[in-house]
Amino acid sequence: MNLKQLLAARIEAALEACGAPAPALVKPASRPEFGDYQADGVMAAARAAKANPRALAAEVVQRLELGDAAETVAVAGPGFLNIRISRQFLARRLHLDAPLLEKAAAPQRVVVDYSCPNLAKEMHVGHLRSTIIGDAMARVLEALGHQVIRQNHVGDWGTQFGMLLAHLDEVGGDVRALDDLEAFYRAASQRFREDQAFAAASRAMVVALQGGDAEARTKWRRFIDISLDHCQQIYDRLGTGLKPDHVMAESAYNDRLADTVAALEQRGLLTESEGARCVFLPQFTGKDGRVTPVIVQKSDGAYLYATTDLAAIRHRAEALRADRVLYFTDSRQTLHFQQVFTVAERAGFKPAGLRLEHMPFGAMLGPNGKPFKTRQGGVVKLNALLDQAETHALALVREKNPELSSDEQAEAARVLGIGAVKYADLAKNRTNDYVFDWDLMLAFEGNTAPYLLYAYARIQSLFRRGGLDPAALSDQPEPRHPTERALAVVLVRLQEVLEQTAESGCPHLLCAYLHDLAAKFTKFYEECPILTAPSHVKENRLRLAEQTARTLRSGLGLLGIDVVQRM
Ligand code: ARG
Repeated sequence: MNLKQLLAARIEAALEACGAPAPALVKPASRPEFGDYQADGVMAAARAAKANPRALAAEVVQRLELGDAAETVAVAGPGFLNIRISRQFLARRLHLDAPLLEKAAAPQRVVVDYSCPNLAKEMHVGHLRSTIIGDAMARVLEALGHQVIRQNHVGDWGTQFGMLLAHLDEVGGDVRALDDLEAFYRAASQRFREDQAFAAASRAMVVALQGGDAEARTKWRRFIDISLDHCQQIYDRLGTGLKPDHVMAESAYNDRLADTVAALEQRGLLTESEGARCVFLPQFTGKDGRVTPVIVQKSDGAYLYATTDLAAIRHRAEALRADRVLYFTDSRQTLHFQQVFTVAERAGFKPAGLRLEHMPFGAMLGPNGKPFKTRQGGVVKLNALLDQAETHALALVREKNPELSSDEQAEAARVLGIGAVKYADLAKNRTNDYVFDWDLMLAFEGNTAPYLLYAYARIQSLFRRGGLDPAALSDQPEPRHPTERALAVVLVRLQEVLEQTAESGCPHLLCAYLHDLAAKFTKFYEECPILTAPSHVKENRLRLAEQTARTLRSGLGLLGIDVVQRM
């Protein structure tokens, strides 16, 4: 149980014993000078029980059994409780031999649906957020003991592929033409627009492909494999945990689509409209006030994006036995998911215990506040973006660490450059748009990757300078100085923050925590001499430093960001 839950459970037991059962509403204190945590629930409990809030608060304190966890519990204002954690408790929780995290008591099976590029095109900045945020969430859930099933629902089916394969035929099926997928796609769509014969050939190719024609399938497969290889290179370069095994493409559901539509029919959910088969849900209306239907099959028999998602829900519920499914896509797909989830529920595809959660995110904007584009107005390819990140970071590393060998500089630049891009994205509340800004993300001040990596490297340098081996330290740090204590209070919150991150699908909570931790460490480092302190004080401070390093390293690791020993 994390500390916040522990406090809440004990306060709620006390409220109940006072005859005023209510949620304790515990949170980290907004005014640290009064305590580490505060509980705001007593006032509402008093209102409900028609009691005097301050008197009830006093009685709660009387009955509260916190063992030695709290040093003081004080009543403040109209009936808040301010709780100060005891030194013994902090020390126990910070034992260096103990694992940093507790596993969930009831582990869940969680499908994380992320990245999911459309394979007709090369990966570009539009795929960055889903890939990075989804990956971080998968890691956080796993660290808490949940069973994570990564699903890369790539778009590998549909009419564009007819066009691409027809073009591949034209250029003589030369695979090298696919080195630049983006240019290939542009050329194919230009041919499609300008040449009727080509357009007809493209349509014929779609029919052949959908009809299961062997030759068309072989060409398609080759195209898809090349495109997937290209994605995999980016995944590896970004340091994500996505592997070829995690691909569960749209086409994988092809032979379950007819059955899915039949199931909707059977439940009486289908209506025919202009030859298309649709589900009308009265709660989803367009701007004109008319109901926006969920189309599951077009008049020509083709299935749609929503049909595949419905089939995928059945698969995830039945075969994967998921407890939760998290979808990371941009917020323009919000209506799609609301509709699909509602249809799934009405059709009985969604078991009662299954949580389907769309985790939308905003757009990445350029410095001008408009969607992020190249100077020429084209899409920014991810590989090009990551090249730039490493170049910017290398300049920085050369300036700050001229003494490092060029190999070390290159490695530091890689970690810093990629880490900065990822962290800049993860640190923002995902639901907002954000401006992509090299200077901000590479700054050594503020909520940035360099700031955290620098704090980590400082601790490593401390151990190097002292000729000390952090692994030789064991036992628990005992915070005594107020600045040590402030650091310790943050350190013990890791579990609570990760649980909140896992529940909300918001990695910026973890980033904000790590930034707070690095800031508290910096203050501690400046105010509390370490290597020059008397030996027992020094030992203790080194333990706190080591616990900070562990927490930073694993927190960054959960965000998919490496650390460096020197910076
Ligand atoms: N391929 C889609 C796109 O590029 C995203 C798929 C998201 N996942 C899903 N199950 N619909 O927009």
